[in-house]
Amino acid sequence: MRVLLTGGAGYIGTHTALVLLERGHEVVVLDDFSNSSAEAVRRVEQLTDHAIPLIEADLADRYETRAALEGVEFDSVIHFAGLKAVGESVAQPTRYYRVNIDSTLVLLDLMQERGVDKLVFSSSATVYGDPDIVPVNEQAPAGIGVTNPYGWTKFMNEQIIRDAQTAWPELGAVLLRYFNPVGAHPSGKIGEDPLGIPNNLMPFIAQVAVGKREKLAVFGDSYPTPDGTGVRDYIHVMDLAEGHVAALERIAAGVKTYNLGSGVGSSVLDAVRAFEAASGRPVPYEVVPPRAGDVAELVADPALANRELEWQTTRSLAEACTDSWAWQSANPDGYGE
Ligand code: UD1
Repeated sequence: MRVLLTGGAGYIGTHTALVLLERGHEVVVLDDFSNSSAEAVRRVEQLTDHAIPLIEADLADRYETRAALEGVEFDSVIHFAGLKAVGESVAQPTRYYRVNIDSTLVLLDLMQERGVDKLVFSSSATVYGDPDIVPVNEQAPAGIGVTNPYGWTKFMNEQIIRDAQTAWPELGAVLLRYFNPVGAHPSGKIGEDPLGIPNNLMPFIAQVAVGKREKLAVFGDSYPTPDGTGVRDYIHVMDLAEGHVAALERIAAGVKTYNLGSGVGSSVLDAVRAFEAASGRPVPYEVVPPRAGDVAELVADPALANRELEWQTTRSLAEACTDSWAWQSANPDGYGE
């Protein structure tokens, strides 16, 4: 297939581009570089020895995007583009709704104009809110207990895609609900390069280990979990990338929704210890009060994806830490300017 990757210069997009190219697909990257770098795409070109057409455009701008994609051929789309910082979304809700919703609307219209009828969408386990039953499967109610505009945009985009498919029955769409993506390509050439202070646990730990930050703040240790810290399902970004390819290769008219997770829960302290072991560096931490909106435990039941996509995770948290350390230690300032 020839796949358009919106937001393809970002963390998950670059790893997915690499796996697609290795499986013999072609990719085109569209990105506005608001939180990503062209250097990341150049590194995927080096790792795969393939050229990647790179289009700079703001997907939320329909005229700019239509013009930028003129003459560019693709037969399917993986839609990663969007803003993703929870705290920022609370402070800037209109920006989050505008960027994340408009870009999906523009994309769906352009796909229909051009007859491109295969779409994989980056959704999030955040749509489950604080589920009653963990591990959580796709039948669990979504959109209840979502605590922030970022999470709402994921939920709303899922609904927009379902409605678009109802009106356009040829469309095949797969909604992938990611759990917590971590790790990097084992080469250490590409990885997660957060803007400013990392919001998420793993990049923060990595920056403490490399000496960029003094210590980790552990958000609460009185949750009803084995060690009192929050439990999440950390999924290696290479496993996640393979999940996208599996979804794309099986896409058919209709909408399917899958959890992409490992099914294994790890606590914040498990993650600290795993990173210390992988890096050989200490990760000092201090327990602080819980972060607003956090849940005690969120772990995937990935059985549906295991069965229907014939996909499962094969990499451990320890491996994710080793690969993340390879990236962080070789690129302490990420991709640079
Ligand atoms: C967060 C978002 C979620 C989003 C996901 C992917 C929130 C409430 N949720 O998930 O909507 O889809 O990222 O980007 O932000 N932790 C610390 N110290 C830190 C950072 C995190 O103790 O400095 C803890 C958290 O309390 C949590 C775990 O580490 O228990 C994972 O946190 P994080 O990496 O931010 O992911 P989520 O909160 O699960």
